[in-house]
Amino acid sequence: MKHDLLIIGAGPGGYIAAIRAAQLGLNVACVEKEPRLGGTCLRVGCIPSKALLESSEKYLETQHALAAHGIKISGAELDLPTMQARKDGVVKSLTDGVAFLFKKNKITRYEGNASFVSKNTVQVGDQIIEAERIIIATGSKAAQLRGIEFDFDRVGTSTEALSYPEVPEHLVIIGAGYIGLEIGSVWKRLGSKVTVLEFLPIILPGMDGEIRDEAFKMLKKQGLEFRLGTKVTGARATEKGAIVEIEGSEPIECDRVLVAAGRLPNTDGLNLAAAGLATDEKGRISVDAHYRTQVENIYAIGDVIAGPMLAHKAEEEGVACVEGIVTGYGHVNYDAIPAVAYTDPEIAGVGKTEEQLKEAGIEYKKGTFPFIANGRAKAIAQTQGKVKILADARTDRILGVHIIGPRAGDLIAEAVAAIEFGATAEDLRRTSHAHPTLAECLKEAAFAVEGAALSM
Ligand code: NAI
Repeated sequence: MKHDLLIIGAGPGGYIAAIRAAQLGLNVACVEKEPRLGGTCLRVGCIPSKALLESSEKYLETQHALAAHGIKISGAELDLPTMQARKDGVVKSLTDGVAFLFKKNKITRYEGNASFVSKNTVQVGDQIIEAERIIIATGSKAAQLRGIEFDFDRVGTSTEALSYPEVPEHLVIIGAGYIGLEIGSVWKRLGSKVTVLEFLPIILPGMDGEIRDEAFKMLKKQGLEFRLGTKVTGARATEKGAIVEIEGSEPIECDRVLVAAGRLPNTDGLNLAAAGLATDEKGRISVDAHYRTQVENIYAIGDVIAGPMLAHKAEEEGVACVEGIVTGYGHVNYDAIPAVAYTDPEIAGVGKTEEQLKEAGIEYKKGTFPFIANGRAKAIAQTQGKVKILADARTDRILGVHIIGPRAGDLIAEAVAAIEFGATAEDLRRTSHAHPTLAECLKEAAFAVEGAALSM
């Protein structure tokens, strides 16, 4: 069977690319090894973690927060199987949704591992599939660390940590990045003692320093235990639980270990050499600005190429790649890709951090506004955190926006649009914001860039 376009991988990069290509009139096929479409994000990543974050937050509210609203609760109990079943239901409905969209857009679906036979042909099981163009969108897998003996039960990755059958008494997490902090928050709220071991002296490397420092204080206050500057030398399952070995310190005995120390591009079994392709020193596939690999008809997008490993970055690349193929034009603005950690409160950022501006020698103005001075934040009793806007000192153009606070992940969308449209801080402060909303904090921070917020 010959297709115009074959996409390998049905994660957010691959399935979005497939749908867009079908909309633009191509005969499209997609190979996915898992029975469910949607990739890591929908099956074992973004979506199930957000479902558990929401449920665990509700549980925590019944323990403490609702009393302040004048709601007395007694006898609230955790029913973990129901919580997990709800999460599984959310995943099912979304992965079914992708299958529906494939049918609706007449995308041919192949199930199995794809392996290149030549630059235009791929083998899946005993089927040979031919396509004029191929997009590799195979995503990433959890990085393995030296000395860690995974049994994918007691010592595992985020996939296992999203489905623990009981609340671990003591969970040790290796890595204080997105996965470590989000999943650590879930199990802490449900009652685990959580110890996060981080190699660097900071958490969330890459985020704006001021926001990161606030996050660190808040998460510590919530009871997450951090050991920064800690080098893990080994971890393995024991009869009763697991043990983690640390350089220069006593080993830690615990119930479960989550290894969340980054992810690596996934090119396992693709047989890239048969297509004339190779990976770089980090295992990634090199592409040009149009996502073309060194083989003219083969493209790559998402976690398998350079850049942040984020679902929405892969989606943007999927659309730009396909539009580039069909219309000759497709583009991703990497200065306007937001990053969000769904902790409580959420942490979100877009554009340059203060550290990056300093390093680049760019003169900037800064405006911040705390949620405690916002009416809506007070009304919903979520007053922690702040909005920070960084604007060019000369042109006033917004260069970076960083938020820690309630619904930061939603609020950042306005900042992304502002950066995308090249807005100045003045544009933002002159834009009407509904009252009372959390988004008013952005407007106030924009006023602060010019000198002073109105409500401070
Ligand atoms: P990450 O890169 O965010 O964080 C990994 C952390 O582990 C870093 O702080 C690193 O210094 C630390 N580390 C590395 N080796 C270590 C060692 N031997 N001992 C102790 N610490 C060590 O990676 P993470 O959290 O695993 O997430 C993987 C990818 O998935 C990331 O690229 C992230 O962007 C993405 N992701 C995004 C989410 C979101 O957008 N909300 C949620 C979850 C994951």
